[in-house]
Amino acid sequence: MKPRILIILGSTGSIGRSTLDVVAAHPDRFEVRALAAFSNVDRLVEQYHQFNPKYLCLVDESRSAELAERLKDEPVEILSGENDLIDMAALRGPDMVVNAVVGAAGLKASLRAVEDGKDLALANKESLVAGGPLFPPIVEKTGARILPIDSEHSAIWQVLHCGKKEEIRRLLLTASGGPFRDYPAEKFAEITVEQALDHPTWNMGNKITIDSATLANKGLEVIEAVQLFDVPADKVTVVVHPQSIVHSMVEFVDSSVVAQLSQPDMRLPITYALFWPDRVESAHGRIDWSQMADLTFEDPDFERFPALRLAIEAARAGGTMPAVFNAANEAAVAAFLDHDIRFTEISETIRRVIEASTSIGQPSLDDILEADREARRLAKQTMETIAL
Ligand SMILES: NC(=O)c1ccc[n+]([C@@H]2O[C@H](COP(=O)([O-])OP(=O)(O)OC[C@H]3O[C@@H](n4cnc5c(N)ncnc54)[C@H](OP(=O)(O)O)[C@@H]3O)[C@@H](O)[C@H]2O)c1
Repeated sequence: MKPRILIILGSTGSIGRSTLDVVAAHPDRFEVRALAAFSNVDRLVEQYHQFNPKYLCLVDESRSAELAERLKDEPVEILSGENDLIDMAALRGPDMVVNAVVGAAGLKASLRAVEDGKDLALANKESLVAGGPLFPPIVEKTGARILPIDSEHSAIWQVLHCGKKEEIRRLLLTASGGPFRDYPAEKFAEITVEQALDHPTWNMGNKITIDSATLANKGLEVIEAVQLFDVPADKVTVVVHPQSIVHSMVEFVDSSVVAQLSQPDMRLPITYALFWPDRVESAHGRIDWSQMADLTFEDPDFERFPALRLAIEAARAGGTMPAVFNAANEAAVAAFLDHDIRFTEISETIRRVIEASTSIGQPSLDDILEADREARRLAKQTMETIAL
């Protein structure tokens, strides 16, 4: 069987490294042609020596000279800057782009990959959240496929083989509830960065870990599900399931609920996307049923986690509003990680930015990029007035 040729964007991050773990476990099935990161030279050099890609890209141009110097005797082309990363997504030869970049910074590369007709294995949910309306016409024209890596969307994708689209009553997106599921409301304003980075079930990059603590991540996933599965926001229900064993479910019109279960291990949905339409032998995420205790489910608390409600409202509004939600959230999370605002001010910033914004229906890429820029400007202004 011919190996699948891969481009991996965001290879130095949590998902990027898990993707390379899967590739390393199946050396005859994949060739890594290109790797890209933001600025992590050490890890990219290490990955180069293990996987020997023909191209490497660093978005941070101030670090690419160091990368080039360290690999000057190697047969590798060093690219640098945002435009090179986007062009990398359309390299001649590879079959699949894995986009594991964090944030809306991944949007243009996702678009470039599908415009080029490549399969897009997508962890970068912000691409679809911000640019969702742009993808369907491109995908229809080029035949590209978007293969979700997010575990919830992978679960739904797998489960949807059990029924037709018109037989879906609702998608049930599960959420662990994050580290503050049982935390008293009056203590939320004092939550520290360190507490928020300590996720109970998943080990992830900083931005998504904070998003999981505020439940903004689940909100982003609601929007992602609306885009990926072409269902209205009202057909997506969030269910808190602290054990993170049921990765999501679909309720069909006959009231049957079909779920996908495994231990929480991102290598499982990554493997499913990389090998799709096949399943391969793999032990990642295997459940030991003798050790399985309770599986519990509860409603989310929209009072303590307003970011989730704001995201659902943005999903309902559509147009550029999800891009506004996403950009305000990215700006606020970065400020929280820099200790500039309190935990509760993340959702407060998003709320104020959304209230000050209007949505443009059927947006162009320029409309989306402008909405993103303006939301970041408004978020900065808002945070200056509420900052610690
Ligand atoms: N981690 C998970 O378990 C998980 C699960 C589901 C979905 N996701 C989604 O997957 C994506 C990646 O998450 P992660 O946890 O892997 O993040 P992460 O560990 O922070 O890694 C982010 C990657 O993106 C690169 N990067 C950062 N800023 C960039 C920019 N402006 N342009 C290009 N590359 C940039 C980073 O490079 P440097 O290392 O050089 O900074 C790194 O390779 C996110 O969209 C997240 O929501 C993650």
